[in-house]
Amino acid sequence: MTIPHYVQGAWFVGALLFIFGLKGMSSPASARKGIIIAGYGMLVAIAATFLIPGLQNLGLMALALAIGGSAAWISGQKVKMTDMPQMVAIYNGMGGGAAAAIAAIEFAKGDTHSLATTVLAVIGALIGAISFTGSCVAWAKLQGVLKKAHRLPAQNAVNVVLALIAIGLGGAMVFMAPAQPELVLAFFAVSLVLGIIVTLPIGGADMPVVISLFNAFTGLAVGFEGYVLGNPSLIIAGIVVGAAGTLLTQLMAKAMNRPISNILFTPMVASGPGEAIKGSMKELSALDAAAMMRYASKVIIVPGYGMAVAHAQHKVWEMTSILEEAGVEVKFAIHPVAGRMPGHMNVLLAEAGVPYDKIFDLEEINGEFGQADVALIIGANDVVNPSARTDKTSPIYGMPILDADKAQNVIVIKRGKGTGYSGVENALFYTDNCRMLYGDAQPMAGEIIQHLKTMG
Ligand code: TAP
Repeated sequence: MTIPHYVQGAWFVGALLFIFGLKGMSSPASARKGIIIAGYGMLVAIAATFLIPGLQNLGLMALALAIGGSAAWISGQKVKMTDMPQMVAIYNGMGGGAAAAIAAIEFAKGDTHSLATTVLAVIGALIGAISFTGSCVAWAKLQGVLKKAHRLPAQNAVNVVLALIAIGLGGAMVFMAPAQPELVLAFFAVSLVLGIIVTLPIGGADMPVVISLFNAFTGLAVGFEGYVLGNPSLIIAGIVVGAAGTLLTQLMAKAMNRPISNILFTPMVASGPGEAIKGSMKELSALDAAAMMRYASKVIIVPGYGMAVAHAQHKVWEMTSILEEAGVEVKFAIHPVAGRMPGHMNVLLAEAGVPYDKIFDLEEINGEFGQADVALIIGANDVVNPSARTDKTSPIYGMPILDADKAQNVIVIKRGKGTGYSGVENALFYTDNCRMLYGDAQPMAGEIIQHLKTMG
């Protein structure tokens, strides 16, 4: 089918809008605008596709768009911030599935393509199919539908054998093109099963990294299928998503100090620390916490997953404003993997209205804990665990952490003695300068606010 120049041109404009959109997403201040720009890019690309002369099945295409568009609109309105990772997983899976479906249609048509096009179609189909079923498993795990990690005996050997079979079948499709339907079916079946088998043993804590990796896969698959269809919009969108997904995966793996191969093939063992922790956890009241912060010069707040669960960000910002009015300098310290998804804390704090210039990354703020009178930890645990620095037997050993323990006083708001996602006990909570304020983060922040108000 010949694509007219005006459609090609519109696709190119769509692709440019994706790039500008992504640029906007690189900062929380412009992220919302970036998403809207990328959305317009998608609108332009889809609208232009309908202008291709002689296009068939227009009704079916419109129906698919209406169903997909309304499902996305409704679920996007309803999703809770804590459920965002599984939503990203399922949408990402749909992208991979769509790329694999494009390849499946091309193979089903039985048209002859150049060798390069067939190879790219097969690779795109393989990684798209893996990304589709893998992302569905990731969704099921994060949603709590699949509760346990299922590990096969000789799991890694099974992964390798399945991958080799899929590659072998893909190779046969290239050399026997146009391939027989049975061969195409067997190739897709093995690729889809491979996505499930690879993802099933991976634990929930590693799932965001896996989702990001599948996101990179989806991008590549879309880019390859864009080449097969001769669609520059798909090629550029695929490359942009593939590159962003790869960088994000590397960033998260680095922040957790776990190589990607280790995340994929070695389960994270949740165990107690190898080194015995000395001391005891000491409690304090909300009144004492309020007084300590009210009469401090500098307070650094470290939010974590618990703040997200408790939806405490608005109260935390209210508390910050009162402290600032009283002349206390308050800063927020964000660990790259605090919470359960990249940028989790930044999004919540932005939603509560915390200005961006009060929010600092690990490298920017770590040197300042030594000068802070109080480090207030709200629902964070692993990201401030000093065992990551000292205990070589700990599963989180080597993970860069926020140096909250270096503050003069540390206050920790959490409900009880629960561990963080890694399942590792936190040595910080037992140190002499640390006090525990037990309770749900939101009412506890509320109590502190009440006491601060009485202090004038
Ligand atoms: P965690 O280490 O998971 O600790 C959260 C703490 O919050 C828990 O100890 C829990 O203790 C407390 N908590 C839970 N609900 C609460 C509530 N309603 N009110 C107050 N406290 C509450 O969180 P973190 O420090 O943010 O670390 C994130 C972890 O997730 C890291 O291990 C990281 O590697 C992992 N992870 C993150 C990502 C991304 S991209 N963010 C990706 C993969 C893995 P109680 O039960 O005692 O309250």
